[in-house]
Amino acid sequence: RLLIIDFGSQVTQLIARRLRELSVYCEIHPFQNVTESFLTEFAPKAVILSGGPSSVFAEGAPMPPASVFDLGIPILGICYGQQVMMHCLGGKVERGHGTAEFGRAFVTPKGSDLALLEGWFADDREQVWMSHGDHVSEIAPGFDVYGTSPNAPFAITADTERNFFAVQFHPEVHHTPNGKKLYENFVRLAGFKGDWTMGAYRDDAIAKIRDQVGDRKVICGLSGGVDSSVAAVLIHEAIGDQLTCVFVDHGLLRLNEADEVVSMFRDNYNIPLIHADEADLFLNALEGVSDPEQKRKTIGKLFIDVFQKYANDIDGAEFLAQGTLYPDVIESVSFSGGPSVTIKSHHNVGGLPEKMGLKLVEPLRELFKDEVRALGRELGLPASFIGRHPFPGPGLAIRCPGEITREKLEILRKADAVYIDQIRKHGLYDEIWQAFVAILPVRTVGVMGDGRTYDYACALRAVTSVDGMTADYYPFTHEFLGETATRIINEVQGINRVTYDITSKPPGTIEWE
Ligand code: XMP
Repeated sequence: RLLIIDFGSQVTQLIARRLRELSVYCEIHPFQNVTESFLTEFAPKAVILSGGPSSVFAEGAPMPPASVFDLGIPILGICYGQQVMMHCLGGKVERGHGTAEFGRAFVTPKGSDLALLEGWFADDREQVWMSHGDHVSEIAPGFDVYGTSPNAPFAITADTERNFFAVQFHPEVHHTPNGKKLYENFVRLAGFKGDWTMGAYRDDAIAKIRDQVGDRKVICGLSGGVDSSVAAVLIHEAIGDQLTCVFVDHGLLRLNEADEVVSMFRDNYNIPLIHADEADLFLNALEGVSDPEQKRKTIGKLFIDVFQKYANDIDGAEFLAQGTLYPDVIESVSFSGGPSVTIKSHHNVGGLPEKMGLKLVEPLRELFKDEVRALGRELGLPASFIGRHPFPGPGLAIRCPGEITREKLEILRKADAVYIDQIRKHGLYDEIWQAFVAILPVRTVGVMGDGRTYDYACALRAVTSVDGMTADYYPFTHEFLGETATRIINEVQGINRVTYDITSKPPGTIEWE
């Protein structure tokens, strides 16, 4: 197995992800935990030293145990990891002073061929992503230079005798487009066969959950989305009926959604599940509320109250399970150091664990969405569940701009069901990141048969996206749009006008509120 020693880079998890893509088993451990005895026990076949925000000059600068360099195994140092290697092995690192470098750079090859770079330099230069303050000014004895960039004379260095490699840039990020090749070469050099699987990940995750929870009880808030569903099934495999799920039905779900979620977990998995049908509570509280933030806050607060009420009935639960993914973890950490502007108060159960004195179980914390889907397949979740479009916590409330009424919700549910049915029938569901209908707070005049109508207008939304952070509208054909509009107006009483939203994100957001 491979050991990643984490010095605190924002992108350390991406290294692990690249390695999982190469079917190599790795573990990330914070540098504080990596002692000499830890190293002996872990017995890594190769080590990667991650980047990090520190300076090797800082007092108590994060360092690996010196013995890591005596293990006779391949080591790859990235960014701060490179500086650590040089610092420990007899090279020199200098402070930033005008040489800091952030962003895109181009590396050109230097010297002889290096196994780490096999097949890497496509046209004699490669785009890489730099992000460093300090820099290496003198490489350690035994090292040679194999790649340079205008601002980084030691962009790629290696001691081929000892199989030590050190790079100034981040090969794991998206902006180093061929970075994966370096990892591929590194693990091949280290003798990994690439035979690790998601099945192995699952077994490992189960063992960790058992270890953490022991014979105590866990509650899990189930939304019916992919993340919480995979987390629940995984935890249930690990600890069986020590897990109870709570599904809060706030009356803002899609057509038949509550039944589908409840029967899927009860019938397929036999997971103890409380169906908290609290539609009246939520809808009454939302009466007369039309401000988007007010809606989100009302729902968020009630959600916590309701969850707490049901959870209190579960004797002695000590843990709260959440389907937190790695991007959620990263997003909750401030990237630039400054607080960012709140565009929307995303609704989740933040604050709940402290309030209830619960510890968190978050078995998906290291994974990205597509990996969660792969794990879900491994656990045997039905394809229809795994491929589901994301659905926001506040549900239909934020697809109903203006005041929410039961009548509008009813119309919205029907229109949404027709739209999604159309998308599925045309085989487009999996190409689209998210699609839904928003019911607009206007009535417009129409003519149907020989009569006048005065009904709601609605907007169809469909976007492509990788992570929900940016998005583009989906380019449906005019035929598809025409057919869908006709079906909605014919089949859904209360709607007489259909529009298609062609705003991308930014400047729009995916949801309407
Ligand atoms: P926006 O509208 O901000 O949405 O472009 C980006 C993605 O996030 C989802 N979304 C939410 N998910 N709670 C959630 O769990 C929320 O409050 C929430 N608001 C938006 C949205 O559906 C899209 O996938």
